[in-house]
Amino acid sequence: MKTEDKIERQWNADAGTGSPSRASDGGPSARAGSASNSLQPDAARQTIIIIFGASGDLTRRKLVPALFNLEGDGLLSERFSIVGYARTHKDKEAFCNELREGVEKFSRRNPFPESAWQRFSSRLHYHSGAYNDPASYEKLKRLLRKIGAGTGATVHLYYLALPPNASEEVLTGMRQTGLVESFQDKIDARVMVEKPFGLDYEGARRLNLALSDLFEESQIHRIDHYLAKDTIRNLLVFRFANTIFEPVWNRGYIDNIQITAAERIGVEGRGGYYEEAGVVRDMVQNHILQVMALTAMEAPLAGDVESVRDKTVELFKSLAAIGPEDFVLGQYHGYRQERNVDPKSSTPTFVALKLAVNNWRWQGVPFYIRSGKALAGKVTEVTIQFKEVPLSIFGGTLNPKNHPNRLVLRLQPNEGVRLSFLAKQPGLGDAIRPAHLDFRYASMGLEMPEAYERIILDGLRGNRALFWRADGIEAAWRVVEPLLALPRTGVDLPRYERGTWGPDEANRFLQKDGRHWLPSY
Ligand code: BG6
Repeated sequence: MKTEDKIERQWNADAGTGSPSRASDGGPSARAGSASNSLQPDAARQTIIIIFGASGDLTRRKLVPALFNLEGDGLLSERFSIVGYARTHKDKEAFCNELREGVEKFSRRNPFPESAWQRFSSRLHYHSGAYNDPASYEKLKRLLRKIGAGTGATVHLYYLALPPNASEEVLTGMRQTGLVESFQDKIDARVMVEKPFGLDYEGARRLNLALSDLFEESQIHRIDHYLAKDTIRNLLVFRFANTIFEPVWNRGYIDNIQITAAERIGVEGRGGYYEEAGVVRDMVQNHILQVMALTAMEAPLAGDVESVRDKTVELFKSLAAIGPEDFVLGQYHGYRQERNVDPKSSTPTFVALKLAVNNWRWQGVPFYIRSGKALAGKVTEVTIQFKEVPLSIFGGTLNPKNHPNRLVLRLQPNEGVRLSFLAKQPGLGDAIRPAHLDFRYASMGLEMPEAYERIILDGLRGNRALFWRADGIEAAWRVVEPLLALPRTGVDLPRYERGTWGPDEANRFLQKDGRHWLPSY
C-alpha cells in the first residue's frame, strides 16, 4: 500500500475518535507539556523515543521491528531517535546487532533492506544504568539534551516496556530527578506503559498514582495491543454503525455469548514472566475484558474516546462478583517443566469463566470465557448464540430447536463474520439444513496494520482511543480479583494435554448449565 493511502487510512480511522478537550479523570495538574491530539503525523518534529527495558524481548520482537516498519513507510518524524535504557551493560554496537536480528526475524520487510537498516540504526542510542540510580537519570538527561540540541519543538515518548514493579521504580527515578520537568519548556511529553498494568488492583492504583505525579491523564497511554486490532475496533462499528443487530442484542433474543481466546503455543521461553502472570493477568484482565466490554456495553453517547471509555467502565462495574463456582482453572501437561517455571507451580495456563452482567439488557444471559495456552488452535472469537425457535413446525431429521441461529465475530485469524441459519435443502423433499452467510475481511483487499505499529503511531500523535483509562484498568482488576487468590505453588490444578481444548472440567462446567462450548468455525 502506498504511504499516502496508509496515512489517509489512519486519519479516516481516527477521525471519529479524536480526544475531546474535556479534562477527564485527571489527577494532579501536569508538570510537563500537554499532548497534542493532532491527526497529522509529526513529520518535522524532533521525536525521541526512550525505551525503558530496552534489552528485553518485547523491544527486540515487537517495538523496534514496528518502528522500523513505520520509518520505512515514512510515518515517523524525519528527525527521530531511539534511546534504549536498560540495566544490562553493553555497547551501542551490541545493542544494534541484537535489534537487527529482531528486525530481520520479525519485521514485515522482506527481504531485509540493508540500506534502510543502516539509516535506521544511525538513530539508535543505548544507555545502561540501574532504574533506581539518580546519577543514571542525570546521564540520560544529558544524552537527551545532546540529541535534541538546536532543534525546535520536540516530542519525548517514554515507553515503559517493563514489569509493573520496575515501571514503578522508573517513575520514581524520573520524578526524583525531575527528568520530565527539566524539558518542560519545549517538550511535548507522553508515556506509554506495557501490560500487565500492575499485578492486582492495589498495584494498578500505585502505578496510576505514580503516573499522575508526572503526567496528565491525556499524556498517559496504557497499552493493550488488542485494542489496536482492526477486528476489535470493528466490534464498535458492527454494533453501532448498523441498525439490524441492536434490536436483537439483548436477553430477549440471545441465549449466551462465548468468548474464546485460544493459543496453540505454550509459554515459549517466557516462563519467568508467565509464572507471575498466569492466564488471568496475561489475557483475561486486559484483552478479554476489553473484547467483552465492546460486545456488551451500552451505546456510547458519541464516538469520541472518553464516551467509549465511560461505557467500558460502566460495563465492568455492572459485572456480578465472580464466585468459586463460576470458573475452572487448568494447567497444561509439561508446563512445570518449562524453563524458569517452578516444578510445583500452581500458575493457571487455562481458564473457563462465567460472567453475569447485572443490567436490563443482559440479565440471565451468561458470558462464557475460555482462554489458554497449548490449546488445539489459535483463535480469538466472539460467538453469539441466539435462542432456539419456540416451536418447530418442521418434521424430518433436523429439529430447528437444536440449531439456533449463531453469529460469530472472528477476530483472528481468518478475520470475518459468520451468521448461521437454517435453509431449505434444494430438492423435492422438505429437508432443511444449516447454511451460513460469511464475510471475510480479506475480501476488502486491504492489509491490516500490525497492532504495535498502530500503538506506537497513536502514542506519538497523542491519540488515546486505543489505550486504557485509569479508572477502567482499576475496575477490570476488581473484576478478576477472585481468580487471583490461588497460592503460586503447591496446588494441583486440573491438567490438560497439549493440543486439546483444556481440561475435562471445563466441559462439565458448561454441561452443568445445559450448554456446551461452541465449536470454532
Ligand atoms: C500478549 C500475551 O499480551 O498477548 C501473550 O502476553 C499472548 O502471552 C499474546 O501470546 C497474544 O496476542 P495475539 O495478538 O497473538 O493474540
